[in-house]
Amino acid sequence: MSKTQYYTATSLDGFLATEDDSLDWLFPLSSLNESSYPAFIAEVGALAMGSATYEWMLRNAEVVLKETGAAWPYTQPAWVFSSRKLPLIEGADVRFASGAVGPVWAQMKRAAAGKNIWIVGGGDLAGQFYDAGLLDEVIVQIGSATLGSGKPLFPRRVLGPKLALQSVRQMGASMAELRYELGKD
Ligand SMILES: NC(=O)c1ccc[n+]([C@@H]2O[C@H](COP(=O)([O-])OP(=O)(O)OC[C@H]3O[C@@H](n4cnc5c(N)ncnc54)[C@H](OP(=O)(O)O)[C@@H]3O)[C@@H](O)[C@H]2O)c1
Repeated sequence: MSKTQYYTATSLDGFLATEDDSLDWLFPLSSLNESSYPAFIAEVGALAMGSATYEWMLRNAEVVLKETGAAWPYTQPAWVFSSRKLPLIEGADVRFASGAVGPVWAQMKRAAAGKNIWIVGGGDLAGQFYDAGLLDEVIVQIGSATLGSGKPLFPRRVLGPKLALQSVRQMGASMAELRYELGKD
């Protein structure tokens, strides 16, 4: 069954990136190919991200190319949420969206054709899918680093038992992955 998954790396103190959208803290800690990412992305049929995440990819095309082999690494259709007009990355299967996530999720589900839907980030966008009752899983790789401040992992209040821990796994020397299922109201 298709799941809507928020899959991301985070610092130990719950930040995706620094305030100025740097991910320099993360790269020394992890290698995509030694992580759960190859198995995860193989099951993804559509993905969504906010504009800061998309603009990070625009600014860091060379880093993404080095890490993944392509400036836009996704073959799946992608939805980018923004209230602004953003440039298109050449060759990227990207649609721009704004406003309520529900109608976009319905389009993503059709495009995913039975595969999973990946909410790439940021945290508030994942929260908007959660608010709409559409988020099934949160999968986080916690890096051995604290940032003190930055872009939040998931700025929502969700208490147990609704946030149900499913597994814990060490990945390399510096990352631990936690998988949670989100119970429905
Ligand atoms: N650690 C990781 O693995 C990881 C994973 C994902 C992201 N990141 C990084 O973390 C940072 C995330 O940045 P962020 O927290 O600012 O989040 P973001 O979701 O990437 O961007 C937020 C922006 O998206 C637009 N947006 C969000 N929801 C919208 C909606 N419903 N309708 C219209 N526009 C909407 C708004 O900007 P506008 O309307 O002004 O465009 C909003 O300010 C980025 O630097 C990214 O590279 C890291």
